[in-house]
Amino acid sequence: MSNMTTDKSRVLIFDTTLRDGEQSPGATMTHDEKLEIAEMLDNMGVDIIEAGFPIASEGDFAAVSEIAKRAKRAVICGLSRAKPGDIERAWEAVKHANLPRIHTFIGTSPSHRAITGMDMDEMADVIHDTVSLARNLCDNVQWSPMDATRTEDDYLCRVVEIAIQAGATTINIPDTVGYTAPAESGDIIKMLLERVPGADEIIFATHCHNDLGMATANALAAVDAGARQIECTINGLGERAGNTALEEVVMAIKVRNDIMPYRTEIDTTQIMNISRRVATVSGFPVQYNKAIVGKNAFAHESGIHQDGMLKNAETFEIMRPEDIGLRETSLVMGKHSGRAALRAKLENLGFTLGDNQLKDVFVRFKELADRKKEIFDDDLVALMSTATGSPLEGELKLESLRVVCGTEGPQSAEMELSIGGKTNNVSATGDGPVDATFNAIKKVFPHAARLQLYQVHAVTEGTDAQATVSVRMEENGKIVTGQSADTDTVVASAKAYINALNNLVVRREKTAPA
Ligand code: KIV
Ligand code: ZN
Repeated sequence: MSNMTTDKSRVLIFDTTLRDGEQSPGATMTHDEKLEIAEMLDNMGVDIIEAGFPIASEGDFAAVSEIAKRAKRAVICGLSRAKPGDIERAWEAVKHANLPRIHTFIGTSPSHRAITGMDMDEMADVIHDTVSLARNLCDNVQWSPMDATRTEDDYLCRVVEIAIQAGATTINIPDTVGYTAPAESGDIIKMLLERVPGADEIIFATHCHNDLGMATANALAAVDAGARQIECTINGLGERAGNTALEEVVMAIKVRNDIMPYRTEIDTTQIMNISRRVATVSGFPVQYNKAIVGKNAFAHESGIHQDGMLKNAETFEIMRPEDIGLRETSLVMGKHSGRAALRAKLENLGFTLGDNQLKDVFVRFKELADRKKEIFDDDLVALMSTATGSPLEGELKLESLRVVCGTEGPQSAEMELSIGGKTNNVSATGDGPVDATFNAIKKVFPHAARLQLYQVHAVTEGTDAQATVSVRMEENGKIVTGQSADTDTVVASAKAYINALNNLVVRREKTAPA
C-alpha cells in the first residue's frame, strides 16, 4: 500500500489498539498477545498498525520491532514525542518493516504550550526540526498536533504547513479529549484543506476520543470533509471513554455506502474474532449493547421484533450477523459429538486447529460436555480463548479443589496442586472462596507478583453457564495474564490464576540472564 492513493473513495484504516488502546489503564497486553493481535489486524486488512511507543519501555520497543519484522501487508508505525531520542528510537523499532512509519506529535493547544513552556514560535521551530529529523530517517512520516481541536485555527494552519514543508506525509488531527462535535470535526479538515499550502499533497487523518460519545460520528464527519485516514481501535479500547471503534466506522461505511461512498480494505468477517480476542487479552469486556460487536447487537427479544425477523430479517436487521463473522448462536454440540464435528464447528467459528491443538481442545470439550448438557457457540469460543497463545499445561497444574463457602466464615480451600510433576496438598482460609483458593496457591508457590485484575464473566445464560475468568499480574514491571473457563467459578478462578503463574514462569525464564 502506498501512502497516497489515486482512488478518492479509499479510506485508510489506522489501528492503534496496541498503542492508544493499550495505554488505557489496566489494558496492558503481554508481548505474545501484542504479536497475535498485530497478526490478526494485518490479516483483516488494516492499512497501518500503530504497534506501540518504542521509547516508553524496553517491552514496547521489543514488541514494535517484532511486529515490524513479521508484518506482511500493513504499514507498521511507532509513536514518538517531539524529541530526537524518541524519534530515533521509534525508527530503530519500525525500520525492520517492509513499510515503516514514524509518528511524531506535540501538544499545540494553549494549555499544552503552557505545559511545555514554549511560545508559538519556539514550538513551530521544534515541529520543523523534529519532522525533518523523522523524514531524514523514514519516507513515511505522520505528524500530530495533539489537542488539535482546541488549538487556535490560525496556529493550527501554521504548524500543519510547517510539518508538511518539513516532510510529513500524513497529518493527523487528534481530538485528544473528545471535545469536538461532528460539524466542527468536518470544518477543521475543510479549513486545513482550503488554507494550508500543500494540503492536497498529503493525507489527513482523524483521531477521535469518545468522551462525549461522538468519536464515530466525528471521525466520519472528518472523512466527509476530506480526511482519508481514520484512527481507531478494536472495541473502541482506549483511555477514559476510549477511541473511535474500528468496527463502527468500517461497518457504517459498508452499511450506509449510499450516503458515505467510501471504501476500506477491511475483511469485515474477521471483526467478531478480533473483538473477542482483544476483549480477552486486554481484560476489557465488550458491553452487551455495544454497536456491532456487543452480545445483544443482533439479538431480537421483543415479540414484535421476533415476529418481524421470522417474516423478513431485513425488517429489523440492517446488516447480517455473518457480515462481521458472527454465526448463529444456537445449540450446537453435545457429549456425543465427535472430533470431526468439533473441528468443523470451530472452523465455522473462525478457529483453524492443528491436530495436537484439536486433541487438547477435544479433551476439554468432552469434560465440559459431561458437566453441561447444552454447548453453545460462545462456550466453544470460551474454550478456545483459554487454549490459544498460552501454555496450557505448564509448571503448575491444578489436580483437585474443594472449597467451603457460605455465611459462616472463615471460607477455606483445600487443593492438590502439582508443581513440576510433584503433587502438593495445601489448604488455606480467606475472605471468600476465591481469596482462600488464591491464598492456597500462594502458600505452595510463593511469589511477589501483584494481582492487578480479577474478572469474571458468564459465557451464556443459565445457572449452569461457564464462567470465564481473566487474571492479570505484575512482577518487576512484567505483566502476565491468565484465562480460564469452567462451569464452577472458583475452579475457573484457580485455573486462570495458575495459567497466569505458568506464563510468569515462562516469562522469568525468557528474561533470565544466560
Ligand atoms: O489523542 C491523542 O492526541 C493521541 C496522539 C498521541 C495522537 O493519541
Ligand atoms: Zn489518542
